[in-house]
Amino acid sequence: MKFDTPATTNPIDQLKVVGQPVDRVDGPLKTTGTAPYAYDRHDVVPNQAYGYVVGSAIAKGRIVSMDLAAAKAAPGVIAIVTAQNAGKLAKGDFNTARLLGGPEIQHYHQAIAVVVAETFEQARAAAHLVRIEYVRAKGKFDLASVKNTAGTAESNGATAETAVGNFAGAYAAAPVQLDATYETANESHSMMEPHATVAAWDGGQLTLWTSNQMIAWAVGDMAKTLGIPKEKIRVLSPYIGGGFGAKLFLRSDAVMAALAARAARRPVKVALQRAFIPNNTVHRSATIQRVRIGATRDGQITAIGHESWSGNLPGGGPEAGAIQTRALYAGANRMTSNRVAVLDLPEANAMRAPNEAPGLAALEIAMDEMAEKLAMDPIEFRIRNDTQVVPDSPAKPASSDPQSKKPEQKEKPNPHPPFSKRQLVQCFQVGAKRFGWDKRKPQPGQVRDGRWLIGMGVASAFRDNLVTKSAARVRLDRHGNVTVETDMTDIGTGSYTIIAQTAAEMMGVPLNKVKVRLGDSSFPVSCGSGGQWGGNSSTSGVYAACMKLREAVAQKAGFNAGDAVFADGQVRSGDRSIPLAGAAGDRGLVAEDLIEFGDLDKRFQQSTFGAHFVEVGVDAATGETRVRRMLAVCAAGRILNPKTARSQVIGAMTMGVGAALMEELAVDTRYGFFVNHDLAGYEVPVHADIPHQEVIFLDETDPISSPMKAKGVAELGICGVAAAVANAIYNATGVRVRDYPITLDKLLERLPPVT
Ligand code: MOS
Repeated sequence: MKFDTPATTNPIDQLKVVGQPVDRVDGPLKTTGTAPYAYDRHDVVPNQAYGYVVGSAIAKGRIVSMDLAAAKAAPGVIAIVTAQNAGKLAKGDFNTARLLGGPEIQHYHQAIAVVVAETFEQARAAAHLVRIEYVRAKGKFDLASVKNTAGTAESNGATAETAVGNFAGAYAAAPVQLDATYETANESHSMMEPHATVAAWDGGQLTLWTSNQMIAWAVGDMAKTLGIPKEKIRVLSPYIGGGFGAKLFLRSDAVMAALAARAARRPVKVALQRAFIPNNTVHRSATIQRVRIGATRDGQITAIGHESWSGNLPGGGPEAGAIQTRALYAGANRMTSNRVAVLDLPEANAMRAPNEAPGLAALEIAMDEMAEKLAMDPIEFRIRNDTQVVPDSPAKPASSDPQSKKPEQKEKPNPHPPFSKRQLVQCFQVGAKRFGWDKRKPQPGQVRDGRWLIGMGVASAFRDNLVTKSAARVRLDRHGNVTVETDMTDIGTGSYTIIAQTAAEMMGVPLNKVKVRLGDSSFPVSCGSGGQWGGNSSTSGVYAACMKLREAVAQKAGFNAGDAVFADGQVRSGDRSIPLAGAAGDRGLVAEDLIEFGDLDKRFQQSTFGAHFVEVGVDAATGETRVRRMLAVCAAGRILNPKTARSQVIGAMTMGVGAALMEELAVDTRYGFFVNHDLAGYEVPVHADIPHQEVIFLDETDPISSPMKAKGVAELGICGVAAAVANAIYNATGVRVRDYPITLDKLLERLPPVT
């Protein structure tokens, strides 16, 4: 099905099942510990051996020698695979090129060997007996010191630089100006489930039980890496304990397991140990961002500029912090740039709303600072600069970007396309009322509650709504049961549930008559889970397949598909009605289809919007910040399931608190690695850090987005949160911190005197 005209009324609009806050259909499996995660797959193949990955102890240089003798002689050892004996591997593109290193070393903890043994303990013990000599080369590990070498680069299909009007001139002429630089930290995804794979070869056929957000990419990248046809590889990833972007691409667990299983001639399972993950796999790059805003005295933005610098290994893209500044606020003169400098730290790549999350962390403090200079309420300042069309220049079509396989940005025929739907102003209005914004004191440091300094902050939330093709197969059996199969993944987001709701709505059956099977490369290729495109695009694919199945059912029943009504397990036409089970016949009916998106995303800018409200208390003596209240108001199209969507948004808000107050990978700039590479040293919020969170979804449908009239919503929830926290801290204390995370040491000496 091609979606190229805005949706009109369709079966989803009944909202008997879709739009209802139903419980997760996979909930009982999760809460009883019976959902089979990758490393739990003891049952799928017999005789599994254990692989333990050895990582490089240097960040850059060469392996001079590897002495495997002691490790090979250790108890239980079956095989040791290194670059020397692994056989020929493809060089690969940016995502796969470094999954097995040696003799050249490209980053710290790069995988250089996997030791296979009968037990995990034997593999681990033997791994520590591998003797390696290195020659260390000088590397670049400090973003600030290489910032000026940064070239421009493209990421996620967006051009690196844009310019409209005369930014420099308009900024210089503006009566009110802000020029400030912000820093965000290197961050680690820190999903609960580590990267893990069970690999088994059957002749030339490879099966991987793994944990991966994008099944088809995993198959393709593995095929390329090993130099075998895609048809020879099956990837299964039905349950995933969080990904946050870290599992968008193939990682070393999968490649090392496949190589180890080939060498050991039996199935091998590999899990990356927690303390190995931050340096071995991927992280979000730190950024340095300069924001300049010029405005008239009554708060009209006349010039807005945003430059962002980040680091990555050669060939990698930037953390494009300036992206949302092209679309969020009006202003006739503008410039943005996203530059990336080469660093020899581990790979930087997509994490939890890449680009917008750190970008808004900077921009939305700048908006708060500017509002203060203008003596305007920060909400009023944002509303005054609302725009219903994209104010920036059109993005040039991007060259194919090896780092990001996200959908290509298509050339926009209209240089300033209208937003398909934009309710940013309404989000602020609803939120201000609900949160009690009128009680905020504009002057900082005015509100005390015992030892706590109290403040409120806001920020805009903005994240693009990407749509991408997605296929599904739907089966109706003679009992009237519906089974959906698609290689879509559920990374903890609720895919199983909203897909079941979609099929139930379309076929007119109750939810318990629908079975959803996901995460298997033998199913039709879906959009996968990433960039908040998964919910809308995958259910649209299921919608398309169900439309075909409805036609097949109608035909079988002798009805005209156009006026057949599917409800209560029956298909009805006029006054004739038959049970679905009957229409299916003994052999059942199967339909498969693909949703493909036309050019509506070129003619309209499709984005999601929100407003974040935060109240904090800062300990007047110690500078400790505690978040006291949070509210997110989201305008993100139709909400397919308010319960799962709320869970997505409160999870994202929690991540925003992490970015604001805690999360930072500390770089050892001498030796080039992340020092705090485990969950003891890398802090994320826990329950005790998170207060009452409230989420309001504006009643919205977006027929331009898809037949579901939905949009992405998950990543919207993180975008802007960090700045809302920072702005609340400023309102509480009068201390403006421009580098994240806002730990108490950055506040302590600047707090008002304790009275
Ligand atoms: Mo998301 S960071 O694209 O998984």
